[in-house]
Amino acid sequence: MRPKIIWLTTNSCAGDILSLLNARHPNFCQMAEDYFDFRFEPFTMAAEGDLALEPLAAALNGAAGEYILVVEGNIPTAAQGRYCVIAYRAGQPWTALEAVQELAAKARYVVAAGTCAAFGGPYAAHPNPTGAKPVSAVVPQKVINVPGCPVHPDWLAGTLYHLVAHGEPELDAYNRPLIYFGETVHDRCPRRADFENGNFASQPGEPGCLYRLGCKGPVTHADCPVRQWCGEHTNWPVGANTPCIGCASPEFPDGLSPFFEH
Ligand code: SF4
Ligand code: F3S
Repeated sequence: MRPKIIWLTTNSCAGDILSLLNARHPNFCQMAEDYFDFRFEPFTMAAEGDLALEPLAAALNGAAGEYILVVEGNIPTAAQGRYCVIAYRAGQPWTALEAVQELAAKARYVVAAGTCAAFGGPYAAHPNPTGAKPVSAVVPQKVINVPGCPVHPDWLAGTLYHLVAHGEPELDAYNRPLIYFGETVHDRCPRRADFENGNFASQPGEPGCLYRLGCKGPVTHADCPVRQWCGEHTNWPVGANTPCIGCASPEFPDGLSPFFEH
């Protein structure tokens, strides 16, 4: 039986589900048909209104440990959480804060998809008027963080596969799967020899290491240089002659600004 996924979209741009829709081998349709039972995912589901909310009620009324909760986006805590409302119950707003806390309490695993859910990310950037926080700051359960802005489809799908087939993957101090976030971008960058030899680009588009243009590869843990992006793993930021801006880092974006230097 395919494991059930409850996917909550909170304060976010929906970039993480869009990224997962760009997955290959298997693609999203194969994932949904053969591997996971997406019971609730607001971006792709056809149901609306009360019908759409039935899986959430079933999850809350069912036995514990029957689904994996994936959260995309961070959680507003200002104004009693009313900056992000999932639905209305008995005429009252059911905030993302309440929904995440209630659903996490019964989940087998809680997975934060993307940097906003994992660490706060752009939607918690200064001055953060919604009081947005990462998922781990609002639930007592362990949260497996799979960052990235957006998350790479391999990182998220691979983590979900691992949870189902082998249980929890080995995690680092930020609860990120080591298999994807164990080394820095800088560790595996094909321009590392340029860095060591002092061959630096002076403007975007030039060959050479992009460190002096602001590259955050040395402080960013992710396997982008070897995994690459764009569906068929065809390119990545430095490959396109632009610095890594550290989108998968806990400090992104405020702590890594300015992104570009000259
Ligand atoms: Fe490191 Fe960035 Fe230079 Fe690559 S381009 S070697 S990641 S500083
Ligand atoms: Fe993000 Fe840097 Fe990878 S900007 S996509 S972590 S190369």
